[in-house]
Parts: sequence; C-alpha cells; structure tokens
Amino acid sequence: MYSFIPLLALLPSLVRGQVTATFPNGATNPDQPEFLPIGSYVNETSLSRLMSINGVDDFCLWGPPDQSGAKENEIGNVEPIVVAYCTKPRNGARLIPDGAITAAHFIKTPLYVQIHGFWDGTKVGIVEGDAGGELDPHGAENLGNPIGGNVTSNVEGKDVFYEEWMSFISYDQFCVRVCTAETANVTAALQCEHELDIMGCQFVMAIEDFYQENNTFTSCDGEAAAPPGLYPQANGSTSTFRQRYTGTYSNDGGVGYFTVGQTVTPSSVAFYPATSNCVTYSTISNGVNTGDWAVTATPSILASGSTVAAGNVGTTSQSKPSGASATAAASGSSASASASASRSGSGSASGSSAPSASGSASNANAAASASGSSSAGMITVQGGSNVIVGMGVAVVGILLGAVTLL
Ligand SMILES: *[C@@H]1O[C@H](CO)[C@@H](O)[C@H](O)[C@H]1NC(C)=O
Ligand SMILES: *[C@@H]1O[C@H](CO)[C@@H](O)[C@H](O)[C@H]1NC(C)=O
Ligand SMILES: *[C@@H]1O[C@H](CO)[C@@H](O)[C@H](O)[C@H]1NC(C)=O
Ligand SMILES: *[C@@H]1O[C@H](CO)[C@@H](O)[C@H](O)[C@H]1NC(C)=O
Ligand SMILES: *[C@@H]1O[C@H](CO)[C@@H](O)[C@H](O)[C@H]1NC(C)=O
Repeated sequence: MYSFIPLLALLPSLVRGQVTATFPNGATNPDQPEFLPIGSYVNETSLSRLMSINGVDDFCLWGPPDQSGAKENEIGNVEPIVVAYCTKPRNGARLIPDGAITAAHFIKTPLYVQIHGFWDGTKVGIVEGDAGGELDPHGAENLGNPIGGNVTSNVEGKDVFYEEWMSFISYDQFCVRVCTAETANVTAALQCEHELDIMGCQFVMAIEDFYQENNTFTSCDGEAAAPPGLYPQANGSTSTFRQRYTGTYSNDGGVGYFTVGQTVTPSSVAFYPATSNCVTYSTISNGVNTGDWAVTATPSILASGSTVAAGNVGTTSQSKPSGASATAAASGSSASASASASRSGSGSASGSSAPSASGSASNANAAASASGSSSAGMITVQGGSNVIVGMGVAVVGILLGAVTLL
C-alpha cells in the first residue's frame, strides 16, 4: 500500500474539469463527425474510433476490430483497440447492422447525454456471452481506452468533441454517457466517473427500469443523476461508495497485493432521475443496404417523432469495399427509418435521496467484468465479483485510478 502514496501527486490530472476536448483527436479518426455522402460506401474494416452520441437512432458503440467472434476478442482483451460501430453511416466508422439493437433509450440532461439499451453484440463481433468491459477516455496510458477513442455530441446544435465520457459494453447490453457540462460541485470527470467498472449500466448510469426496457426505443429529456457512487446528503455533505478491488502490483521487481473499496454493495443509487418529453419509436434503422454498403440516400434521423434529413453530411467519399456484391442484397433495409412515434408524459419521479446501503453483496446487475487487469497490464483482479461500499472513502477510489496509471 505504501508504495502508492507518492502517486497521490497525480490526483490533479484525475479531477481535471475540462468539458470540451483540448488534446488531439485520435490518429485514425476523421477530423469531423460527418455523415457519409450519397455515393460513398461504409468501410467495415475501418479503424475509426470516433463515437457520436446524438439521439435514439444516431449513436455509436465500441466493438472489437476483429469480427470473427473468436474468444481472444473479448472486450477485456481488446479494450485499447476497439473501434466505433455506428447506427448510421458516419465518422468513417463501421455500421451496426439493422436488428442488432433491440432497445435504445436516449436521455438528454443538463449535464450529460446518455444512450442505453440491449443488443446482439455478436453482430459486430463481440464474443457470445462476453460480460464485456468499461471504456473511457483514460486507460493505462491516459491516452484513452481505446487509444485514440474520441466522442462527440450535438446537444447544442453543433458537433462538439467532449473530454469526459464512459461506456459499458457487453454481448447483450450497452450504455454510454457523454458529459457535456459541469457545475460548481459536479465536475464532468465526476459525472462520467470511470472506476466503478464492475457495477454495470443500471447502477452506474442510474437507470431505474433497465431490465424492463428491452424491445422499446425512446428519446427523453431528463434531470441529471447524482454522479456514480456519490450520495448527496440532506445536510449538504456527500458520501462516496467505491468498488471493492483486490489486485496485485509489481514495482521495481517486487510483487504485492492491495485492496481498495468496501465489501458491502449499495442497494440502490442515490435517486433515479426523472425524465420528461419522452417520445417512443417503433424501431431504428441505419438506412444502408449491407449487401453492398452503399449510401444511396441522404442519411435521416429520428427527431421529435419524425424522420428528418440529417445535417452535417460530409464530402469525403469512401470507395467501394473489395468483395462487396454488385447488386444489393435482398435483406437490405430501406433508406427511411420508420417513425411511428408516440409521446408520453413525464417519466419516473425522483426517488428518495437516502443512501440506503444494504448488506447485499450481489453483483447480478454488473454488465461488465472488471477491466483493471487489461487496462493496467500489471494488475490482476482477484475475486472481482465482490462489490463494494462505504462512506467517505473517495481517496481510496482515487488511489485505484492512480494505480492504473503505473
Ligand atoms: C481525444 O481523446 C483523448 C484521450 O481521451 C483526449 O485527451 C483528447 O482531448 C480527445 N480529443 C478530441 C479532439 O476529442
Ligand atoms: C477501410 O479502412 C481500412 C483501415 O483504415 C483501410 O486500410 C482501407 O483502405 C479502407 N477501405 C476502403 C475501401 O477505403
Ligand atoms: C432483448 O430482446 C431480444 C428479442 O428482441 C432477445 O433476443 C434478447 O435476448 C433480449 N435481451 C435481454 C438482455 O433480455
Ligand atoms: C451539488 O449542489 C446542489 C445544489 O447545492 C445539490 O442539490 C446537489 O445535491 C449537489 N450534488 C452533489 C453530488 O453533492
Ligand atoms: C451529514 O449527515 C450524514 C448522515 O446522513 C452524517 O454522516 C454526516 O456526518 C453529516 N455531516 C455533517 C457535516 O453534519
């Protein structure tokens, strides 16, 4: 434990308050998050790592570069090199096939935008049964995990590169949050906290009905959740819960063990944020015929209950991939997304803000396996199913972040 104390010097970089990105875009990414123009082709071997989280049918998720589904492509093994798969032809990235996404729920809040849902991730090469992992802009070398991974959103009516985001991906579920603003007491780094990596989407992203939301598609406004693991108290103080984590470290030839976090799992998040202005859609569609990957119409997106032509169509044409069939496959989808939409009133009300730490140590909701081992290289997770908690141990959780920088 003592050998980590000097690393506390790294803390300022871990609580950086930057909202828009200031460092360079990934080397394999296009300069801007544009839709592909008519006449170009989606490149299913692209190495673009540019994600955009814009709406219920316009978002990207991470997947392995190798789509064979072979065991070595488990997310935990390929975190530094995962690539972007998008629901629309954009960002020079790969395309998520129609039907893969079985539920998507987009929420726009004052502090972040979030997409979560269910999918058949094997359609983009995620290994069957893979509990997946947590991807974020930090990683073992602080270059992003994946390295060169970047994220935009257009919440302000224009595309903006944001610095802080977090995502969980597994073979059957996904969630991504992009932090677009911060307040005096909640920084973007806190709101997109990336160390609760075995707690799963429902807990980390405060989704009340997560497991009841398969096979539906909604877009809502919402209030912001409390930052993951933080429990604001009535008296103005905040208690902090941290994931339990036992690992080994090697340092100057020595090997040792460390444990951070607590052994009791919180029964719930601080509160489930209310949603409003929800619009329900019947499905989403990418508008591309995956028989030949050709973009034959201006991409469209769902907005306020209708299908509209997408803005920011780029000019960079991608050429026809070798091996693409000359004629369109029969399974191709039509270019226009169906948009049978219905509006509903406001969603769930805020829950209580009591911290209610129970004694349950169950980790049944975790969507993602502990990823410390792969992101840190020299850290091995032991007994990763023990999840956490306690009050006022923020420094311990932050220590974990420091350790992963070794
Ligand atoms: C790209 O991601 C890196 C790593 O997270 C970050 O430092 C940089 O600011 C991002 N750049 C852009 C343009 O988003
Ligand atoms: C697709 O992307 C890969 C990786 O960047 C690149 O090598 C290849 O040339 C691209 N294919 C086309 C047809 O542009
Ligand atoms: C979601 O629904 C699809 C059917 O549309 C089903 O195949 C899949 O197993 C469900 N996912 C989960 C996690 O229940
Ligand atoms: C931040 O401050 C606001 C206003 O004082 C308060 O309602 C909220 O609970 C605080 N959030 C945290 C995480 O402490
Ligand atoms: C605030 O309340 C919590 C319990 O909810 C308590 O543990 C903490 O000591 C209190 N802090 C202050 C400054 O009164």
